[in-house]
Amino acid sequence: MGLLDGKVAVVTGSGGGIGKYHALALAKEGAKVVINDVGGDRSGAGGGKAMADLVVDEIKALGGEAAANHDSVATIEGGEAIVKTALDAFGRIDILVNNAGILRDKSLLKMDEAMWDGVIAVHLKGTFACTRPAAQWMKENGEGGRIINTSSTSGLLGNFGQSNYGAAKAGIAGFTRVCAIELAKYGITCNALVPVAKTRMTEDLPAFAGLEEGMLDPAHIAPVMIFLASDLGKDITGKFFLIRGPQISMMEVQTTEGVAREDMWTPQEIADDIDKIMAW
Ligand code: NAI
Repeated sequence: MGLLDGKVAVVTGSGGGIGKYHALALAKEGAKVVINDVGGDRSGAGGGKAMADLVVDEIKALGGEAAANHDSVATIEGGEAIVKTALDAFGRIDILVNNAGILRDKSLLKMDEAMWDGVIAVHLKGTFACTRPAAQWMKENGEGGRIINTSSTSGLLGNFGQSNYGAAKAGIAGFTRVCAIELAKYGITCNALVPVAKTRMTEDLPAFAGLEEGMLDPAHIAPVMIFLASDLGKDITGKFFLIRGPQISMMEVQTTEGVAREDMWTPQEIADDIDKIMAW
């Protein structure tokens, strides 16, 4: 008995990296899985079917059920085609893991329009493009569902050279919160993973260089996704789970208690009280 017997899951960008671990973990828990991947390089250049097809073969060799999809998440048509692959192959969709991503890092003053548009399209628009048709089907099906997005500390905390990626990932966090609110009445939860893992996306980061082997193994991310995708996580929605190796934490936006006045503030009064306004 798996935690996800009878369920159907779609994982975008699951031809490698964290997404591949997600796909294998879902299959191990009994879910039928759509492996979506365009098969390009880290920047989104190039493409091919092999990455997705090999993961499908791997799951089938382990006795699981999987189907491949090679559409890009970055268009509305692509998102619809990805969800349709699940419906055509397995007749339903219960779990959507929005994981596909690319990197085009440059500091702000050197960032060009193509770097900006490409990253926003894959991460932010891609999350919308897949979530809308999936949530539509889940609503009509009437049995609830799970949307699991992928944000980043680059968006929630900031990181040098990633204004495009950080904006997209912060956008995904906002999207997650709104979806959690809007979809609650259909029994659909929506949460976000905030992974820190050594993959092709991060392997050349100086911060990762001195790490103990296996410390940031991408395998650590999937158990949190499975928890959220299964009945174990059915009451949790709108949350951000930070996963760094074997450590799991929560992230959230907070408001200070603040200071109220009877009348309007002047800029000088704000300056005078700034320590109290900013105090946690
Ligand atoms: P990765 O590069 O190994 O995986 C990303 C996958 O998405 C690749 O297989 C790629 O081919 C696929 N992909 C790219 N564009 C696509 C598109 N338009 N349509 C469909 N598939 C597409 O990198 P990794 O690290 O596994 O990243 C997975 C997710 O985790 C990404 O959203 C990334 O931004 C996020 N993330 C990763 C962190 C880390 O420490 N590795 C940190 C924070 C977030």
